Amino acid sequence: MIIASNFKTNHNRKSTKEFVDFISLQHFFSEVRIFPPSTALDDFDLTPNIRVGAQNFYPVQNGSFTGEIGFDQLEEFGIDTVLVGHSERRHILGETQKDISKKYDFAKAKECEIVYCVGEPKEVREEGIEAVMSYIWRQFDDIDVDYSELVVAYEPVWAIGTGLSASLEDIKEVLGLLRQKIKAPLLYGGSVKVETIKDILGIENCDGVLVGTASWDMKNFAKMIEISDQL
Ligand code: 13P
Repeated sequence: MIIASNFKTNHNRKSTKEFVDFISLQHFFSEVRIFPPSTALDDFDLTPNIRVGAQNFYPVQNGSFTGEIGFDQLEEFGIDTVLVGHSERRHILGETQKDISKKYDFAKAKECEIVYCVGEPKEVREEGIEAVMSYIWRQFDDIDVDYSELVVAYEPVWAIGTGLSASLEDIKEVLGLLRQKIKAPLLYGGSVKVETIKDILGIENCDGVLVGTASWDMKNFAKMIEISDQL
């Protein structure tokens, strides 16, 4: 199982170090991923099942892209795991599928593990499963789904940060349809909580979770990993 925490725009350098050190000291078995803000990336003392990754990057080694970070900056800290295609970057920051596929190809050429996020907005969900899947498949345009270091995260936009997780049936249906074409591990994300993680991890084809809000408290995140370890 992969249990991942996306800090988004939360935590600073000091609290990220406390968080990462606290999680590392627990000796969990599950695969753990932690995505802090880029200003908090550092050389952490990690056990092999824990990786700290980047939430975002510009698809260059270095250059003149004011305000962006490239791979020179990530490689300083041995970062080899990245998030690509998160709904907040698609819908709030305006990344197009073309931007996203460029990032994907760059991270792939760097042999990074890529946690690739897909998911439909509310109005598409209301049209039914066919509309949902055709929307999601379009988010795989120009994406090599056979890449060996790919992890796919299904995160319905309407379930992110709303406290309203998708139902177990809805998650099962989408993961099952993704599984027909994708061999990579499949995660679910969207208002996952300590109280719901066990049932979500029990869904067929679910290989883990990508958690925002409920993971920002290190004790909560540790509880979630503990639950995964017990499965
Ligand atoms: P929440 O857990 O806050 O809904 O966020 C999910 C998410 O976007 C993880 O990438």
